[in-house]
Amino acid sequence: MAFDIDMIKSVYSNMAERVNKARELVGKPLTLSEKILYSHLWDGNPTRIFVRGKDYVDFAPDRIACQDATAQMALLQFMQAGKPKVAVPTTVHCDHLIQAKEGAAKDLKHANSVSSEVFQFLESVSNKYGIGFWKPGAGIIHQVVLENYAFPGGMMIGTDSHTVNAGGLGMVAIGVGGADAVDVMAGMAWELKFPKLIGVKLTGKLSGWTAPKDVILKVAEILTVKGGTGAIVEYFGPGATAMSCTGKGTICNMGAEIGATTSTFGYDESMERYLRATDRADIADAANKVKAHLTGDDEVYTNPEHYFDEVIEINLTELGPLLNGPFTPDLSTEVGASMTEKAKANEWPIKVEWGLIGSCTNSSYEDLSRASSIAQQALDKGLKMKSELGINPGSEQVRYTADRDGILGIFEKLDAKIFTNACGPCIGQWARYSDPKNAPKNSIVHSFNRNFAKRADGNPNTHAFVASPEITAAIAIAGRLDFNPITDKLINEDGQEVMFDEPTGWELPPKGFEVKDNGYLAPEKDGSHVEVKVSETSERLQLLTPFEPIGNKIEGAKLLIKAFGKCTTDHISMAGPWLRFRGHLDNISNNCLIGAVNAYNDKTNFVKNQLTGDYGGVPDTARAYKAAGIKTIVVGDHNYGEGSSREHAAMEPRHLGVAAVIVKSFARIHETNLKKQGMLGLTFVNEADYDLIKEDDTFNFLDLNEFAPDKPLTLEAVHADGSKDVISLNHTYNAAQIAWYNEGSALNLIKKQNVS
Ligand code: F3S
Repeated sequence: MAFDIDMIKSVYSNMAERVNKARELVGKPLTLSEKILYSHLWDGNPTRIFVRGKDYVDFAPDRIACQDATAQMALLQFMQAGKPKVAVPTTVHCDHLIQAKEGAAKDLKHANSVSSEVFQFLESVSNKYGIGFWKPGAGIIHQVVLENYAFPGGMMIGTDSHTVNAGGLGMVAIGVGGADAVDVMAGMAWELKFPKLIGVKLTGKLSGWTAPKDVILKVAEILTVKGGTGAIVEYFGPGATAMSCTGKGTICNMGAEIGATTSTFGYDESMERYLRATDRADIADAANKVKAHLTGDDEVYTNPEHYFDEVIEINLTELGPLLNGPFTPDLSTEVGASMTEKAKANEWPIKVEWGLIGSCTNSSYEDLSRASSIAQQALDKGLKMKSELGINPGSEQVRYTADRDGILGIFEKLDAKIFTNACGPCIGQWARYSDPKNAPKNSIVHSFNRNFAKRADGNPNTHAFVASPEITAAIAIAGRLDFNPITDKLINEDGQEVMFDEPTGWELPPKGFEVKDNGYLAPEKDGSHVEVKVSETSERLQLLTPFEPIGNKIEGAKLLIKAFGKCTTDHISMAGPWLRFRGHLDNISNNCLIGAVNAYNDKTNFVKNQLTGDYGGVPDTARAYKAAGIKTIVVGDHNYGEGSSREHAAMEPRHLGVAAVIVKSFARIHETNLKKQGMLGLTFVNEADYDLIKEDDTFNFLDLNEFAPDKPLTLEAVHADGSKDVISLNHTYNAAQIAWYNEGSALNLIKKQNVS
């Protein structure tokens, strides 16, 4: 049995007392989010109220999930902590390092050959330290977690920003950096700022062409990529309970795209059905006994404006299918005529080259079955595919069952490529072009979550639009971005006009799920004898050495780069081909900030080296400063570090000698990751001071020796002509985080505490 029913029963047995205590303290009815948060306090029973958006709180998560790209660094760090076993149930999932090219069988074989060193490392570390291991091809982490580990009322962290997917099964599941996961694996508390709460009331009912994906595309339009920052989004209302559990997963999954801490839904019959269908009847039985604690109190959902910091209402009956993009997931357009106009005005290619269905967001049995109903109509109505189609099933269980039920066969008849049960094109692991940088301008539609430039195929000219699986299938068949399957006709091979009927599908497989080998390897009970090998000459893996503290004196620092506009973790630490170096800090640091746009020349990876006056790549310039013993700073714009949870985006600048990252605003996970690595992550008190920073500046921190919670820091920028500006900088470090800074990193502090 993969999941731990005793652990879940123990969570439930504590819940009644803790929820009642929290309700008494708060003095009013509770949301689901509060119930889960207050019942997972590190100190056990709640003894005080926490202020949303302000108080840092220590939590005790029930589980950890890691994917292969982030697990390498997380486990390398855990190995340094000197513990014999992980302290809470943990799993590792091999899904990111598998390229999509020719189809599942060949691609998986290729991945197993080129990444064998990494997979073997992850397997042996997992075996040694009591971690469940999901082999390459077993599935995408979040779909596998939903099928096997997520449970209503639980709290999970994962080293991937779409860990939030498990909210579809009523969890508070949060994406963290590897360093946070290491804390919890090592038996320490996990700290989080008590989130604000956004309530989304779903009225009406989804029907016809509208899918759960459209709900989150609409929410993204309303809240934008920054709107969920620091908040848990809690969905409720009749529209929520009428939706499938995996549909709820889709909505929670893309909560990452609005910057939300996580999203969740209250326990209901759809979750019970899903638990029973995925062989977890005992969890459903246990959850039914504490049902009232696994959803918000009635009064909260009746008068939500009194209990949430913000409330949004969406009538699902009125919602239509949307296409979000290109290049950002919050730019919504209704399918059809609105897209015709917008595409023309913005010069987005109308012709669609590819439709891609899958990713952790939309790769459930229901997703594949609904999309296949459109594919079947294309076959029945004599339509020919106008674009290419690719499918990534979410797990081997979904793939096996969908294959058994003839769903994959329908796609194959349309010449679709069935890729591995893995991330593939969602993370730049798509061998679409031999030279992506010079590839042509084109449009694609996919059911994934992210659509930043280059995300899918490395081509900056690919315009990626996000849609539901059924709309993706219809648009891929029609080959036009502005195709509206509700109103538009297509001409079939006999020259006849035909139209699609509404999609149909199954929430769960009518004949039940089936799988021969789900790809899971349980760890040995006592793994102390298991040897973990890392070659000193490896290009892919490198054992870590602790960071030296930066210290309380930063003087004469130079500007490494002033980034302009969007600077996501993809810009800071690019994915795609760089994924192969995730376990080798020095090698992967050669991608540090190479995607960030230099505010002084609008170019990427082209910054001034003040020592020579020459311009060069960011990593090389940073290495030159480091070699000269000069600390550097990075300056950035709004929502700096949005995107994934990868701590490499913090570790690389740290490794290359960056002492401080100063921005207009941060994405939460990245800000925490900077703190974990013992760096300064600061924000301008006055955003306009961003403009005071000049290319040739030298920086002195004037009061770093007084670094303390709630006390701004002061930076002196000395310009080339000798003039100076004094800039006030905010920070969100609490006392414990300042201790991380003082020790050089959070891990240094853990080690010190282990020894003492
Ligand atoms: Fe993988 Fe894309 Fe999800 S990279 S984990 S499928 S967001």
